[in-house]
Amino acid sequence: MSVNSLGEQGESTYKLTKITSLWLLIIFIFCSAWAHRYTIKTTKYRADIEFGKRNGCRPPAFVLSYKWPFGLDVVRRGFKAGRQGKLLALFGWYFGQLGPTVELTILGGTGFATMDPENVETLLSTGFDDFHLGRRNSAMKAMIGDGIFTQDGPAWKHSRELLRRNFVRMQYQNLEGFREHTENMIKALQDSAGIVDLQPFFYRLTLDTTIAMILGQSVESFRHELGDLFSRSFDRASSVTAQRLRLGDVYWAYVPKGCEVTSVLGDDKDITRAHIQRMPYLHIVLKETLRLYPPVPLNTRFCKHVTVLPRGGGPDGLSPMLVREGMPVAYSVYHMQRREDLYGPDAASFRPERWEGSELVDIKWAYLPFNGGPRMCLGKDFGLMLASYGIARVIQTFPNLKLPPGEKWEDLGAERQHLTIVLSNADGCKVLLE
Ligand code: HEM
Repeated sequence: MSVNSLGEQGESTYKLTKITSLWLLIIFIFCSAWAHRYTIKTTKYRADIEFGKRNGCRPPAFVLSYKWPFGLDVVRRGFKAGRQGKLLALFGWYFGQLGPTVELTILGGTGFATMDPENVETLLSTGFDDFHLGRRNSAMKAMIGDGIFTQDGPAWKHSRELLRRNFVRMQYQNLEGFREHTENMIKALQDSAGIVDLQPFFYRLTLDTTIAMILGQSVESFRHELGDLFSRSFDRASSVTAQRLRLGDVYWAYVPKGCEVTSVLGDDKDITRAHIQRMPYLHIVLKETLRLYPPVPLNTRFCKHVTVLPRGGGPDGLSPMLVREGMPVAYSVYHMQRREDLYGPDAASFRPERWEGSELVDIKWAYLPFNGGPRMCLGKDFGLMLASYGIARVIQTFPNLKLPPGEKWEDLGAERQHLTIVLSNADGCKVLLE
């Protein structure tokens, strides 16, 4: 063996030892990091379980079972129901089969879905600081940017305070700001005789007034093609955004009672708050509509740090339940507001009169179309006033408005729905204008 080849062999043994040591070092670092993570996770898990015990938590009463790995059968069923416009009906079926608070493990992650008013109150009010909005920011950013709907913590507080002042100022204003946009809608309705789908008209009215109020300039969707295009694009963007969110019209049934609107308004087109306050039936019609069709039917919060929900644990689901950091808790206002044990056996019927008298005085957190707690809707008064104003003008202009002959009647909740971030009727709200 030559001196040269001996030298080469020594060099390659040296290289091999170096590579082996390097690998051993990498494996050692990896194992140490894993062991460190594992220790932190088990310590945290034990601390969480102790926290749960101290707070009287018991294992969840109702757990969603699945047949395929990672709950893919449940995901598949959800997508199918979504395509048919029946997603909320499917969720209702699950709640009916299981219970008001359900644990779900899907695609490897565990979380909860609830329609229990006590849990909803904890999420939105008493335990507000234990939850956040999760990935809503990234999922919605492309559509609505960084603002009050997507922010948490100090940034949200800042936006809320800024906008709140705007809204408080507006509360003292008359309803003058609605007039121009409502008249644009009435003109567009007058130009479309016969059977008309009211849903897109009211959708545009909301868009025009809201954008005019917030940005100081209306998109005038009834007047210009561009505005019309904007309103359709906005709906498309909401739909895409909702699909993204899921991966991480109000069915407006006006049942006239006497002629409240015409008797209060006569021919007066200058509608004021005082007029609207003299329309108690219109008020409960809106209230009942928002009960059966809350525009934001589903919502989610994510647990910031280990905490407790008051219900869902133990064999009967009435004991507290542990919620660990990172777990999502979805709450369905849609299903909660249709519960027979809370609203009576006719919960699935449209009966505005249920809001008269004392029948529902104790309903509290079980009626929540505008959310509750610190993140309660800032546009509640604006939305209710606009709906009252718009409906009153339509009825005043078309007093004989009725369902078109042969229009299909479906059980409430069995109709095809268009579910984006907000809920509307997939087949619109067709009426005959005479
Ligand atoms: C019937 C009509 C409306 C309903 C049912 C409704 C419902 C809701 C709901 C459920 C939320 C809570 C969302 C969440 O935190 O996850 C919300 C938030 C909000 N709404 Fe409305 N809304 C309506 C109309 C409006 C209008 C017309 C405006 C503006 C002009 C508006 C402005 C806001 C704002 C700024 C927030 C965010 C509050 C915050 O996060 O602090 N809303 N709304």
